[in-house]
This record gives sequence, structure tokens and C-alpha cells, in this order.
Amino acid sequence: MSGIFITGTDTGVGKTFVTLYLAEKFRRDGINVGVMKPISAGPDKDNDAVYLKKKLKLDDPIELINPIRLKHPLAPYPAAKIENRKLKIGKIIKAYKELSKRHQTVIVEGLGGVAVPITKTYCVADLIHDLNIPAIVVARAGLGTINHTLLTIGALIDCHVEVIGIILNGFTGKNVSEKTNAKVIEELSGIPVLEKLKWTT
Ligand SMILES: Nc1ncnc2c1ncn2[C@@H]1O[C@H](COP(=O)(O)OP(=O)(O)OP(=O)(O)O)[C@@H](O)[C@H]1O
Ligand SMILES: [Mg+2]
Repeated sequence: MSGIFITGTDTGVGKTFVTLYLAEKFRRDGINVGVMKPISAGPDKDNDAVYLKKKLKLDDPIELINPIRLKHPLAPYPAAKIENRKLKIGKIIKAYKELSKRHQTVIVEGLGGVAVPITKTYCVADLIHDLNIPAIVVARAGLGTINHTLLTIGALIDCHVEVIGIILNGFTGKNVSEKTNAKVIEELSGIPVLEKLKWTT
């Protein structure tokens, strides 16, 4: 498989955590893995691309890992508006293709959730479709996740994106809904829950 897009039900749901987890897992299996964060938004200290590049000791230039960098911690569409910038999707596709030549697999971390606007008429689900790679949905483990996960999968299917699995993140063992969510989501969506990750701190 040449690429996987890690999307999520929301911002802060664990996409970076899962991207690192999967990249390290693939490496242990002997796979040469690269990562990408197509668009970052916000202060440099919070930049996922810089974090992943450092953690995985990748020598790809940051301009390939993170071709579009916005200053404001907002969805790309409003951030670009404030910064008076016109975002070029072609730049992302080109960087992805370049990274694909350098690695067997490229794990692309999304931004926010699937309906986040990149331009007025183009959202994250459209980007996944145009990159032509399947998606994994990262979702919270506990109460509320059935709704968010099913909505996310529905939006991806509407955009003709293949969803290969769901990763439930942040199991605490304290929440009764955590025990039943995976089965219900699998039953209703027909998509497998690939991993259930514990909250590690
Ligand atoms: N399973 C976990 N155990 C411990 N900490 C976690 C876990 N998952 C996520 N976190 C922490 O929660 C915070 C949010 O997670 P993360 O940055 O991966 O979310 P995200 O979906 O990538 O957010 P963004 O939309 O900003 O890219 C981070 O501080 C991360 O280290
Ligand atoms: Mg992130």
C-alpha cells in the first residue's frame, strides 16, 4: 500500500499520536515509512510535521512533509483568508507524490475532521479523494463516539473515499460506553475497528 490518510472525528482526537504509533509499527515490520501533514495551522511549537519529523528522525525536507504552513490556529479556509493567501492543492499532491518515491508507505495526517474547509468549496474529504488513498478514522473511545464516527464515515463514503478501518483512541477503562462502542460501530458501519489504544499518561 503506498499511502494511508489518518483522519479523525475531531481535532485533538489523537491523529498525531496514531500516525506516530503506526509509523513505528510499520518500521518494526521493516517498511520504509514517510509521513506528511499537508497543512499545518498555528504556532511552530505546535507543528505536527516538525514533531513527527523529529520523532521519526526523517531526513525529508520539512517543505515536503508540510507543504502548506498557516500562521493562524484555524481551519485552512478562514486562516488563508486572514493571511490573504490562496491555497494550492496541487502543491500538496506534488509533495505527496515526491514522498511516495522516497518511501514504501506514506502516512498522511489530516487536519481536524473530514468536513474542515481547505477552501470555500474543498474540504479534507475532497483532499483524501484527490490523493487517491484509503482512510483510517481515529475516534475517541468513550461516550459520543458512535455518532461522530458514523457521521465521519458517511461523509467519506459520500466523497468516494475508501475507509479501511477505525482506531479508537484513549481507553481509560473507567467509561462503560468504552466496552460496547467498538462492536456497535463495526455492526452499524461494516468497517473494522483495527486498534483500541489506551490512554498512556
Ligand atoms: N492514547 C493516548 N495516550 C496519551 N496521550 C494521548 C493519547 N492520544 C492522544 N494523546 C495526547 O492528546 C493530545 C492530542 O492528541 P493529538 O495531538 O494526537 O491529536 P490530533 O488529532 O493530532 O490533533 P490535531 O487536530 O491538532 O492535529 C496530545 O497531547 C497527545 O499527546
Ligand atoms: Mg495532530
